Amino acid sequence: MSLEQKIGQLVQVEGAYGSLPDHLREAVVCGAVGSIINEVDPATLNELQRIAREESPHGIPLLIGRDVIHGFHTVFPIPLGMAASWNDTLVEQAARLSAWEAAQQGVNWTFSPMLDVSRDPRWGRIAESFGEDPLLTARLGAAMVRGYQNDTEHPLVSCLKHFVGYGACEAGKDYNTTNLPEIELRNVYLPPFEAAVRAGALTVMPSFSDLNGMPPSGNAWLLRDVLRGEWQFDGLVVSDWASISQLVVHGVAENEANAAAQAARAGVNMDMVSGAYAAHLAQLVEAGALNEQLVDELVLEVLRVKFAAGLFDAPVRVYHMATQTPAALALAQEVAEQSIVLLKNNDVLPLAIEGRVCLLGPLADQPYEQLGTWVFDGDVARSVTIREAFAATFGGRLSYDPVLETSRDRSQAGFDAAATLAWQSDVVVLALGEEAILSGEAHCRSDIQLPGAQSALVEHIAALGKPVIVAILAGRPLAISEVVERADALLYAWHPGSMAGTALLNVITGGVDASGRLPVTLPRRVGQVPIYYAHGHTGKPATPETVIHIDDIDPKAPQTSIGNTSFHLDVDPSPLFPFGFGLSYTTFEFHNLREEAVADDEAVAMAVDVINSGARAGVTVAQLYVRDLVASATRPVRELKAYERLTLEAGERRTLRFSISRDALSFHNGRAKVFEPGRFRIWVGEHAACGLSAEVLVE
Ligand code: NOJ
Repeated sequence: MSLEQKIGQLVQVEGAYGSLPDHLREAVVCGAVGSIINEVDPATLNELQRIAREESPHGIPLLIGRDVIHGFHTVFPIPLGMAASWNDTLVEQAARLSAWEAAQQGVNWTFSPMLDVSRDPRWGRIAESFGEDPLLTARLGAAMVRGYQNDTEHPLVSCLKHFVGYGACEAGKDYNTTNLPEIELRNVYLPPFEAAVRAGALTVMPSFSDLNGMPPSGNAWLLRDVLRGEWQFDGLVVSDWASISQLVVHGVAENEANAAAQAARAGVNMDMVSGAYAAHLAQLVEAGALNEQLVDELVLEVLRVKFAAGLFDAPVRVYHMATQTPAALALAQEVAEQSIVLLKNNDVLPLAIEGRVCLLGPLADQPYEQLGTWVFDGDVARSVTIREAFAATFGGRLSYDPVLETSRDRSQAGFDAAATLAWQSDVVVLALGEEAILSGEAHCRSDIQLPGAQSALVEHIAALGKPVIVAILAGRPLAISEVVERADALLYAWHPGSMAGTALLNVITGGVDASGRLPVTLPRRVGQVPIYYAHGHTGKPATPETVIHIDDIDPKAPQTSIGNTSFHLDVDPSPLFPFGFGLSYTTFEFHNLREEAVADDEAVAMAVDVINSGARAGVTVAQLYVRDLVASATRPVRELKAYERLTLEAGERRTLRFSISRDALSFHNGRAKVFEPGRFRIWVGEHAACGLSAEVLVE
């Protein structure tokens, strides 16, 4: 291959959305392109691949990239919703189904999963994350990688993003600076990526942000030392959209040529659309500023991925419009059902289907909005809205009024009419939240309350005294204290995807148990952010005795720091709902937490008895948390180390055994990862503030 042809393999360009303009055809014919992003038309992709194989000088097929983030035609809940299922198997199946649909049309590469540990609900991209916890993110990320890649008939190369620390952007403002000490990076932000690399992920995308002074697209320490050196990653690193030329905007490269050289040296194999590689790499090599051997290495890694993706396999794949099956929608419904978190229930749920229901709210009948962010190919026509699903069940006993045009509508003009409708019903269901466009990339908020007049609507309707059920459809945790107080039942449904309506109906009426559990802590107020369960201990932790409210401070109180602890004066220091929380329609008890004999590879093993103490079958997620009581560096107050989702019949008892490896108890206290024997406290229960615990001595 000539130098130009080699560089072509490092270049990704944008497709023309269903057409094949001459410039693109020419570029593929002469081998100047290795990958195309955003082309999903099967006929165009058949032709593009034919040209690449038959007319280009080297016959190398193209990688076809697309953001298949939570489904292709069939849309699953947003990743944050999928995370609420705590169901690795189901998430893997959802990814496999997405791959199956997308690959039929010729897409062979998705920019998913996003593994950014996200602890700031202001950040719009929290919707694309698996939430705040490294273990949950790692397990679900690895499940997605397996789901996308392991279908040999319809594989979709996965891409781990955004490497790394993007979720920690200051003030929850997209693209903003991130400053993360190496200890924090290694203990919290890197582990999900490492787990997904170990699961076989073939590609990685550096993030847009600035990490400790060096944007990841030019960060050789991150991409070479950690990713390739420490983790032995031998796949392809693709820049984010124009993030190579943005090295100039960041001010770490003098000009675009310099940026291209910096990214290539750092180990970025492919330039996503910035044009910097195409424009400058050849001259840089010819001028001796860049070694051609480096280009060869970058190309080899691209080719390795193309081989692994089966692009060279015979017979050549022929693409066609993806088939959508009823099974796909059934799976989307199951994932959506398991992602819905029941946060409050004053015995109004499950809802009997005999009565008259009044459905209100701007998100009740929005086939597009319920799909959430990053939906390019979702089939809106197949969405089942809440209104449709309720109408099918309640028929003439359902009344409906959106009341507000959008979630942002501030007008209260329709409140009285809505109240009249509500008054004529036995129960009111309010579908509230945020439209799809209010979260996702670059859609961050400084206020995380319900937008518009929605909270006022809840207040107005709740004043009638009818039972009020609130369903929140949103791409982020919202601060909804007042709404929770006024509602008789509240379900957090995220953006549930194609089958939102059926899934919500099924959970609300008890066709399935309410089984979602929070993958993020819900704050009471935005001022508590970042609020996450695995925070540090501090030398002055808040206790019930030391917390004082602003209204209770004696006007003559002397200034002193004695006895002070870590809390805000104007808000209850606890979260609104802790990480891992979610109600079921039955109750579970956890008893008899005890140590078990350990096998050679285990540091500690715990057993616990779980009993369904209620009157119906149900689902719980047993969660095991650990605190290292004395260590060479401060450790989080609790860290999730294991979880298991289980279904128990009424009265059924099951003994669970949790195995914890030495690696799981190890941590970075500087550069090195250390295992420090000693005392650990272990909790097992249904959320991060659960009480059943035992102290163990680990040797
Ligand atoms: C920018 C986003 O940051 C990234 O997540 C996405 O995959 C690319 N654009 C491609 O659309």
